[in-house]
Amino acid sequence: MRAVAVYPVQREVRVIDHPEPKLTSPTQAKMRVLDIGVCGTDREITSFEYGTPPDGFDYLIIGHESLSEVLEVGAQVSKVKPGDLVIITVRRPCPHPECVACRAGRQDFCYTGDFTERGIKQNHGYMTEFVVEEERYLNPVPRELRDVGVLVEPLTIAEKSLEQLWTVQQRLPWNDHRRAVVLGAGPVGLLGAMALKVEGFEVTVYSRSADHAEKNDIVSAIGAQYIAAETHSAEEMAKIVGSIDVVYEATGASSVAFDVLKHLGPNAVFIFTGVPGCNPPIPVDTDEIMRNMVLNNQLVLGSVNAPPQSFASAIQHLGIFATRWPQTLRSVITGRFPLERALDALKNQPGGVKNVVAVAS
Ligand code: BGC
Ligand code: ZN
Repeated sequence: MRAVAVYPVQREVRVIDHPEPKLTSPTQAKMRVLDIGVCGTDREITSFEYGTPPDGFDYLIIGHESLSEVLEVGAQVSKVKPGDLVIITVRRPCPHPECVACRAGRQDFCYTGDFTERGIKQNHGYMTEFVVEEERYLNPVPRELRDVGVLVEPLTIAEKSLEQLWTVQQRLPWNDHRRAVVLGAGPVGLLGAMALKVEGFEVTVYSRSADHAEKNDIVSAIGAQYIAAETHSAEEMAKIVGSIDVVYEATGASSVAFDVLKHLGPNAVFIFTGVPGCNPPIPVDTDEIMRNMVLNNQLVLGSVNAPPQSFASAIQHLGIFATRWPQTLRSVITGRFPLERALDALKNQPGGVKNVVAVAS
C-alpha cells in the first residue's frame, strides 16, 4: 500500500510502498483511511526537527490526525463494526510497570517519556491506505461528521485543556468563569474558541496572522471577538476584554504568551499548548509576573496530548459546531490533497487553515 514516509537520516520525505497490515489479535480492527489532517507537528517532522522512526526502520510513516472507516474486526471487538467511522488516538503507553499514568490508561501524563505516538514517535502513523489498531484506541464518530471528522484530533487539545481547567478550578468553591482569551487563530486556536464558546465563555481570539480578514470572519461567525496582535498590545487587548478568567494558548509564540500572562484577572488560569521552537532568549519582567500571580491566585499549566475521554468530548462538541456553524466549521478545512500530493499539503499555505490529505472517499 502507499504511505507518506519521512527518512530523517537521508532527510527525505516521499510516497513509499509499505506492507499492508493484517489483524494479529481478536481485539484489533482494520481500517481504511479516509482523511488525514496536517499540522505544525507534521511540518516539523518533515523538516527533520522532530519525529522518530519505529525501532528497526529508517523511516516513519507520518500522520496522526485521522478519520477512517472500519473494514474488518477481530472476534472479540464489540465497540465498532465494519462501516463505522472512527478516530484513532495518538499516544500509546510506555512499558514500565512503575509508570502509574500509563498503567491507568493516562499515557498523556506519562512519567517516563518512553511512550510512543503514532505518526510522531517510534510508531507508524496514518498517512497511508490501511491501519490496524486495538479496539481500545478507536473512537466511533457519527456518519454525519464525515466531512469534518478529521478535525476531532486537533480539537482534543482544547478538550483536554478544558478538562484540566475544570479540575484545577475546583479550588474555587463556585463556578463562574466567564471570559476566555485564545492566543492564535490556527486550527487548534479556532477549534478551541468554538469549544469555549459552546461552554458559555465570552471568547476573544488574539492573534498575529497574515490573513486577519479571513480569520476575523471565522471568529465573528461563532460569536467571538477578534483582536489583531499587530495593532493591539496585550495590555490594550486585556482592557477591551475585561478581567480575563482563562487563556488558551495555541500558537507556541512565547513572547506574545508572556505579554498576555501579565494581564490575567484574579484567580485566572493560563493554559499553554503550543510548542515553541528554540529561539534566542528574550527579556521577561519576572518580578511583575510573579507579583501578579501571587497576589491574584493565578495558575499556569501546560497540556499535551489527550486521553480517550477528550476524544469523546471532541466528537460531541464537533457535532454541536456542525449544527450551529456548519459553513464556518467546514471553512476551517481549506485544502484537500490526494496522497500523491501530500508534500504540497505539508507546505505552509498562506491563508490556509487546515490542509487535509484525502486518502479515500
Ligand atoms: C499531537 C499530540 C502529541 C504532540 C506531541 C501534537 O501535534 O496532537 O497528540 O502528543 O503533538 O508529539
Ligand atoms: Zn497534530
